[in-house]
Amino acid sequence: MESIVFASNNSHKLDEVREKLKSFFEINSLKDISCFDDIPETADTFEGNAEQKANWVLEKYNYDCFADDSGIEIEALDGRPGVFSARYAGENCTYEDNNLKVMKELEGEANRNAKFVTVICLKLNGKTKFFRGEVKGKIISEFRGGEGFGYDPIFRPYGYDKTYAEMGIEEKNKFSHRAVALSKMISYLSNKN
Ligand code: IMP
Repeated sequence: MESIVFASNNSHKLDEVREKLKSFFEINSLKDISCFDDIPETADTFEGNAEQKANWVLEKYNYDCFADDSGIEIEALDGRPGVFSARYAGENCTYEDNNLKVMKELEGEANRNAKFVTVICLKLNGKTKFFRGEVKGKIISEFRGGEGFGYDPIFRPYGYDKTYAEMGIEEKNKFSHRAVALSKMISYLSNKN
């Protein structure tokens, strides 16, 4: 079976990706190719950051690969935290710090619309392709649920009465922003030949 690098060491993402791509590729992580670099993510778009990571692996290690970049965009905050989602409350901040910062910024704000975004950049056989997944919802005004990570406890997707953090990982992975982007990549891979 062909192998490809997924430019990540996040074990949750690797499990999900390995399961969903098992009929296409054997997936190698960054660790598997002995890449321990702190890969720069300095672009101001999800596409730019995903491509930066994918290019790093392709250019320095010479492997076909794909990379993802995700975050949450909040309408009333002009799209922030966006590409700064991981470190929104500052270097070394916790998920809770980020959530508290968002809550504070939205105090008294009626517009709670937000969306999670994932962009995957695939570099395969000399071609570059992008796949975008989005899930729209609202930022609620309290923390709810103990599953997941990041902004999950304050994000309630449209059509659900639970936050991402109140869903089990299985339910979330069926429709999450990452799952949507991944499904688009799978459709592309299925129709490519
Ligand atoms: P990454 O690009 O997937 O590493 O995501 C960057 C940041 O976006 C994470 O550190 C989280 O703060 C946030 N984020 C991305 N995906 C999710 C999610 O599914 N739930 C909650 N937060 C997320």
